[in-house]
Amino acid sequence: MEEFATLSYGGREVRLPVIVGSEGERAIDITRLRERTGLITHDPGFANTGCCRSAITFVDGERGVLRYRGIPVEELAAHSTFKETAFLLVHGRLPSPRELTRFSVLLNDHSLVHEDMKIFYQNFPRSSHPMGILSSMVNALRSFYPELQNLEEEVNVTVTRLLSKVRTMAAMSYKISRGHTVVYPRPDLTYCANFLNMMFSTPVRPYEIDPEVVRALNVFLILHADHEQNCSTAAVRLVGSARVNLYAAISSGIAALWGPLHGGANQAVIEMLAAIRGEAGGVRKALARARDPADPFRLMGFGHRVYKTYDPRAKILKEVVHGLLDRLRLEDPLLDCARELEEAALQDPWFVERRLYPNVDFYSGILLRAIGIPTNMFTVLFAIGRLPGWIAQWKESLEDPEGRLWRPRQIYVGPTERRYVPIEAR
Ligand code: ACO
Repeated sequence: MEEFATLSYGGREVRLPVIVGSEGERAIDITRLRERTGLITHDPGFANTGCCRSAITFVDGERGVLRYRGIPVEELAAHSTFKETAFLLVHGRLPSPRELTRFSVLLNDHSLVHEDMKIFYQNFPRSSHPMGILSSMVNALRSFYPELQNLEEEVNVTVTRLLSKVRTMAAMSYKISRGHTVVYPRPDLTYCANFLNMMFSTPVRPYEIDPEVVRALNVFLILHADHEQNCSTAAVRLVGSARVNLYAAISSGIAALWGPLHGGANQAVIEMLAAIRGEAGGVRKALARARDPADPFRLMGFGHRVYKTYDPRAKILKEVVHGLLDRLRLEDPLLDCARELEEAALQDPWFVERRLYPNVDFYSGILLRAIGIPTNMFTVLFAIGRLPGWIAQWKESLEDPEGRLWRPRQIYVGPTERRYVPIEAR
């Protein structure tokens, strides 16, 4: 039975339809609100605003649930690969063995980057952040790979092209930033093994591929593959709503992800842990600073707009990090510091009251460090992981019959009309 919410305003009652999602989430449909009442809504940060109907990812922030296309992320992390999860997100179902093989072949076929693009890389200043480089280079891809005829072709070709090339481009940016020879992708390696090889192999020291490291990277990428309407995904949808090409939309997603309040937090966590460790009473002081309303300091890797309990991705990563450090016989003093900070924050009433728990970024930096990824590449790894989610959301938004150009409104609070004053009279 259809449900309605009634809004009473200016002596009139307006019935607004209620949309019910497949997991029981309810939303008031305000599509015709302005037309019928002259009112708009005000929701800074969009915490109460559903911007689309989506069948891709389900998050329950109260219960700590995350599912891609209905499948719990815990099951995917335990049994799937990033490549298979990418297919699931983009196409809406798990691939058959034949489809997966075909997908692998396509990823391999598209893994090389146009040789002319190397010149671009070489001209970025050495101090450039890899996220800025990646965002620019992905946008530049359209100049090298012109528009395709229709959405189906765009999905099949551009999507695989992007998934494959972004990985190559990320490794290339690292190699060039170090003045090393670029390592080309190898057809005999899997998606993650290929990336590690392109990152760490050199002509004088071939990289030894450790299946445990490959597995850990797969899990990291799976856990980052989508997270419904977060900041960068909303950026991809918004920019995509102007019907820009997929490369431009993804480039804006990468730019949004770069921010320290979003994907940049994994780098910020490591920097914060290093600073805390270097100071006597560091954990206590950090908590005191985080509690001080006059201090802008925040505990990086804590809190989440949606999760008001332990982030399920942080739970999985914590286990993977411990297993990997044991397996590699690595000791990371930052991990001890992370544990101490986590325990202290989880017992601190100020944090408990605000339901601030570790988020996915809290442990991801330690995992990436253990694999040997340099700190300034952490968010790039997040971007590689999030790519299938951005693509799936872009595709869904183009196919959505309700899809329109995104154009929010505002409540103007500036000066009312006033006269221009000539410069000599000011
Ligand atoms: N450290 C200290 N206090 C915090 C933190 C934090 N990390 N996060 C939230 N708070 C406090 C705020 O000061 C505020 O307190 P108040 O009610 O006394 O004013 C309260 O908790 C609510 O905070 P908001 O900023 O309203 O929460 P919001 O949902 O807007 O922010 C965000 C979410 C941006 C993730 C925030 O928790 C944060 O800045 N965290 C640190 C950065 C981080 O780890 N980002 C990664 C997020 S996960 C991801 O993008 C993959």
